[in-house]
Amino acid sequence: MVKPLRFEEELKNRKDHAEAVLKEYGTMADPAYQKIVMEAMEYNLFAGGKRLRPILMEETFRMFCGTGKAIESFMAAIEMIHTYSLIHDDLPAMDNDDYRRGRKTTHVVYGEDMAILTGDALLNYAFETAAKAFDLAATEEEMKRIASALQILSKKAGIYGMVGGQTFDVEAEDQNLPLNEEQMLFIFKLKTAALIEASLMIGAVLAGADAEQVRLLEEAGENVGIAFQIRDDILDVTGTQEVLGKPIGSDAKNNKTTYVTLKGLEQAEADVRSYTDRARECLKRLPNGSAFLDSLLTYLTDRIK
Ligand code: IPE
Ligand code: IPE
Ligand code: MG
Ligand code: MG
Ligand code: MG
Repeated sequence: MVKPLRFEEELKNRKDHAEAVLKEYGTMADPAYQKIVMEAMEYNLFAGGKRLRPILMEETFRMFCGTGKAIESFMAAIEMIHTYSLIHDDLPAMDNDDYRRGRKTTHVVYGEDMAILTGDALLNYAFETAAKAFDLAATEEEMKRIASALQILSKKAGIYGMVGGQTFDVEAEDQNLPLNEEQMLFIFKLKTAALIEASLMIGAVLAGADAEQVRLLEEAGENVGIAFQIRDDILDVTGTQEVLGKPIGSDAKNNKTTYVTLKGLEQAEADVRSYTDRARECLKRLPNGSAFLDSLLTYLTDRIK
């Protein structure tokens, strides 16, 4: 009884901190004629959201006893990239959804042209923000860690990561391809797991973890990400818009092959648990465990939003 309550409190503290970091780095300054996109960036960034990726990133940074503020610019950056991915994902040409994080989507409020540009702006601003970490680096070793973190961020956000997954996801949907499990897992690993992998890896890299430890976190992130997307597909069927802040039935509307259409609700539920267990196996092989991360994985397994 006591433990879950403590975890919820801890999660709230971590989320509040991620929120404060995002406020610091994501508040736009010096608007001129591009004001409308700056406003739309803030409309999206400060709309709520679970802030899962910065929370994960900060936790692995703590696990490896990281110090300093370089982590903060990367926490903000990953949330900016994630947020841009949602703006584009919701566009009429993609999933065509009208609500996100409890608000009307960007293209509904600002028009499709501005929604595209807001996504573009957030993606670039993410790297501008991450690169601010260099200003804080005092040693060559710190410079190297920041450079590695940037390599991870760019790869996992791009064609070998999130964009790559969205590409095949959209292509399969447009062409009505009957996806098999292997193809669906390819999509999940890239479109969803890649940014979660990046979060876990970057926290560790900035704190000085070694290559094998970072590899284990990548593998853990892959499994967490797959479980997360299976749960997302389940919630598209069983959730409510009030709780989720986004429409349910989006996948059915788009005639999408999802984990639920492929394997059924019951198997999907079971698989959320087995991928989470696989993530735990990877984490167990690290020298330093985290009770918070363990509780977070449990929380995500049963999440309703
Ligand atoms: C939604 O991500 C998109 C997926 C990868 C399934 P989140 O469920 O983390 O969305 P927010 O950030 O809480 O709005
Ligand atoms: C999208 O998956 C994941 C992204 C990379 C944005 P979904 O299309 O299922 O995400 P939701 O349900 O709209 O949040
Ligand atoms: Mg989509
Ligand atoms: Mg979508
Ligand atoms: Mg979905």
